[in-house]
Amino acid sequence: MSRPRVYLETFGCQMNELDSELVAGQLHALGYRFVDEPEGAQVILYNTCSVREHAEQKVWSRLGELAIRKQDDPVLVVGVLGCLAERDGVALVKRMPVVDVLCGPGELDKLPSLLDNAYRTRQSLLADRVTATDADRRSASQIALQGNSSRRSATLAAAQDSLEMLDLSRATSPLETMDEDHPSAGAVRKRSAYVRITRGCNKFCTYCVVPFTRGAEVHRPPEHIIDECKKLADAGVIEITLLGQTVNHYRFEHGAAVTIGGVVQPQKGRSYAGGHRRDPFAGLRVTTFADLLSRIHEEVPSIERLRFVTSYPRDFGDDVLEVIRDHPRICRYLHVPAQSGSDRILKLMNRGYTVSEYLEFIDRARGFLHEPAKGRPLSISGDIIVGFPTESEADFDATIGLIERVRYKNCFIFKYSPRPGTTAFDKLEDDVPDAIKRRWNNTALDVQSRISDELSRESLGRTLGVFVEGLSRMEEKKRERPAKSCGGGVSLTIGGKVIHSHAGEEDEDAGGLMAPVEALGEAVMGATTQLSGRSDGDHIVFFDVPSGASADELVGRIVPVTIERVQRLSLFGRLDGASAGRSKK
Ligand code: 5AD
Ligand code: SF4
Repeated sequence: MSRPRVYLETFGCQMNELDSELVAGQLHALGYRFVDEPEGAQVILYNTCSVREHAEQKVWSRLGELAIRKQDDPVLVVGVLGCLAERDGVALVKRMPVVDVLCGPGELDKLPSLLDNAYRTRQSLLADRVTATDADRRSASQIALQGNSSRRSATLAAAQDSLEMLDLSRATSPLETMDEDHPSAGAVRKRSAYVRITRGCNKFCTYCVVPFTRGAEVHRPPEHIIDECKKLADAGVIEITLLGQTVNHYRFEHGAAVTIGGVVQPQKGRSYAGGHRRDPFAGLRVTTFADLLSRIHEEVPSIERLRFVTSYPRDFGDDVLEVIRDHPRICRYLHVPAQSGSDRILKLMNRGYTVSEYLEFIDRARGFLHEPAKGRPLSISGDIIVGFPTESEADFDATIGLIERVRYKNCFIFKYSPRPGTTAFDKLEDDVPDAIKRRWNNTALDVQSRISDELSRESLGRTLGVFVEGLSRMEEKKRERPAKSCGGGVSLTIGGKVIHSHAGEEDEDAGGLMAPVEALGEAVMGATTQLSGRSDGDHIVFFDVPSGASADELVGRIVPVTIERVQRLSLFGRLDGASAGRSKK
């Protein structure tokens, strides 16, 4: 049987991007080839997001198109992975019989065998020369869903954590060509990578599907995380972003660790009081989030930038802030969603903190980490939901007050989207009219844009270390090689697979990461080449390749750029030729 051509498209958050990368690595090792466009593919996989309804609708419309295509192409295999698969389960296959494979985010290690079965079943149709209608009757349906089993028993889940193998088996060869058909894509040296430290979430915010789709919070053993960072560093990675739904909640109790077949198993999150300030567990060896950060910083010195998302505003101890302050290669960048500026709404959301507790944290974080005079300001970004059930103008005003008080570098603003299965959906009527949600969304975005602009201005004249990601999108356009994009936003192509960016951009329910127009950069006609990258505070920075330097040599490096002009979230600067030559390879 020939090697199947796969098209994989990713929706939603960074966790999904990482899942897609791991799944693609695994499939590639088994002989699957990846293609850039769905047209030539025999297998089409969507790694889906369920966090807002609009994200799901995009997938439904893609599936509708595939249903038409499958009429003429009955051997096509269609797979839905991720949160939508987990949330809708078999009902999804009933509604969309075009789907052959369903695989929840907690079962992705099983995807290769599911796909293999589905592919063989569909291929046998070809041999039998069956019609499209017959093909429908001979469904290849392959399903792996967690069905929330991870919440049933801590020991059982820990003892059967085969998903850990997916992260452990990560392919890290830097120049490995993921797809012989697209050698250029595969040959790009990968310099930035995500590393998962926790999976799932135990917070049960009343609006959120994540605790249901990704299951209980599980912490990976620190040794696994550090080994993965080392492997990535050996392969040329210089920037690592640690991922977790509540990343700062990371905590691994070695005394309680289970080992199976010589492999230490991930561990259920355990609740304990007191935050991370001083560890309350005497006699039990514990790796806290602060310990983990400092170990990675010390043990993997070639990582020039260590970042983490997303932080939960509670339980964020001074120990973590001290570690960030004292370790120069840890970015002074925190993504700590507040969700609302009204105590009443926060309570209904089950967020577990008040506005004043949130602000206490922001002030404490700035106290430790905001050192602009030393060239090390703290950048804070957030998420806000507007139009939560029962939200009044006064609640919304309080949210605007919070945005003004915190002064986020940027803030994602989402319109509340009722999600079946969540407490808010079951208990609270979605009673804020969409017109009001839209107005609040726009008002909040306007306030945030002004603040972003003011904060960006503070960077004028500063020289920032910029991790160069590639040609600016405007430069791509200029060259008629548009960046692959799903609903706007930044997207990367890794090994011929398109990896899309953070949830929310150009999502009808969302706004705020970056005004898409500004994120393009500017087309400069003539001989200059515009690159874009990110500062350690997560600002998007554009600059031209100086004469005598080449774009290829700069991409994937951290270079000093002096900021000369700003436009909201976009900073425009200059890299002098000498720096380009001197900067680290
Ligand atoms: N409606 C709107 N926004 C939501 N988010 C999560 N669930 C919902 C929902 N039901 C937002 C939160 C979270 C971000 C990832 O998505 O702000 O931080
Ligand atoms: Fe969802 Fe709340 Fe968990 Fe974040 S902390 S993933 S918003 S339940």
